[in-house]
Amino acid sequence: MRVLGIETSCDETSASVLSGRGDDVHVDSLIILSQDVHRVFGGVVPEIASRAHVTALVPVVERALADAGIDRSGIDAIAVTHGPGLVGALLVGVSFAKAFAFVLGVPFVGVHHMEGHLFATALEEHDAVPPFTALLVSGGHTLLLDVESWGSYRLLGQTRDDAAGEAFDKVAKLLGLPYPGGPAIEREASEFRGRDEANPFRFARPMLRRDQRPGDADYYDLSFSGLKTAVLNAVRDATATEPLTDASRSAIAAAFQDALVETLVEKTARAVRQFERERVVLGGGVAGNRTLIAAMRDQCAKVGARVFAPSSRLATDNAAMIARAGLFHLERGEQSTLDLNAFASLAMPGLAD
Ligand code: KG4
Ligand code: ZN
Repeated sequence: MRVLGIETSCDETSASVLSGRGDDVHVDSLIILSQDVHRVFGGVVPEIASRAHVTALVPVVERALADAGIDRSGIDAIAVTHGPGLVGALLVGVSFAKAFAFVLGVPFVGVHHMEGHLFATALEEHDAVPPFTALLVSGGHTLLLDVESWGSYRLLGQTRDDAAGEAFDKVAKLLGLPYPGGPAIEREASEFRGRDEANPFRFARPMLRRDQRPGDADYYDLSFSGLKTAVLNAVRDATATEPLTDASRSAIAAAFQDALVETLVEKTARAVRQFERERVVLGGGVAGNRTLIAAMRDQCAKVGARVFAPSSRLATDNAAMIARAGLFHLERGEQSTLDLNAFASLAMPGLAD
């Protein structure tokens, strides 16, 4: 089966051709066109994103087919992200996928964007397959899941306010760093660590206490808006009499990243222990963070679990992961009909009650 994947949920226009079956698949091509225009505005402007997808999608798909060495007659099915995301941006991909599938006479299926992130690492790591504990950390979502098998998920915790990536982006803005904030903060933080000094800044670990027990509502849940406010206050104090110095900027970035990483790692390790999993799979843009990956490996090694993280190309939004998740659903005999819609928010499929 050869699947064309399409992803337009935010600010990446992406298409990919994937071939194979089950976990035995090959990424024949992957094109990711990042919309740099949003850097000018310090964040994604939805209307501009939609228009850029309209302009880019056809050439991106043509390039993906050419890289895979096929023409359109070689496509057996199409998978497209239909939520959650920016609804106007999603509609571009969904409309294209429906029209293309109709013209080609092939099945198509709508894919949940976060389920795509769940499959991303398995495209590179043969052993990143269920059962595992999953931490999905992106710009819009933060989900801690227990994955019994593909398509069968238990939602353990999620953020009650900002997503992890959103926290990186907002804190970067507070520190005068460019969008997207994650890579910029990671660079600042590693610069600080390179100086090998004690950090004068320290932020409380949000929603992380030793007395929390399984069954408590906050045992797995996360929250990052208080951490963002703590950073804001630190920046205000540091700039009361002078502009933010480079030294303070990198120290605050490192302290913020440490607090966020420790929280994510601890909550993930709790899930590994409770469900006795031997594997942890990371996904989403923040999963490209080297400090997070290293801390997760350290902590999970203590509880006997291996950590799998996607390469940065597959951590951020891409159509290969959408094609892979779509293939899973198509193999189960599921397909969408021409009334498929796009949704800004959408429940993850396969969640146990
Ligand atoms: O998964 P993704 O590409 O898009 C969404 O589905 O939202 O995630 C984008 C998010 C952005 O918030 C970005 O700042 C963050 O991932 N990010 C990072 C890193 N690279 C991207 N956060 C921390 N460290 C990074 N290296
Ligand atoms: Zn994403």
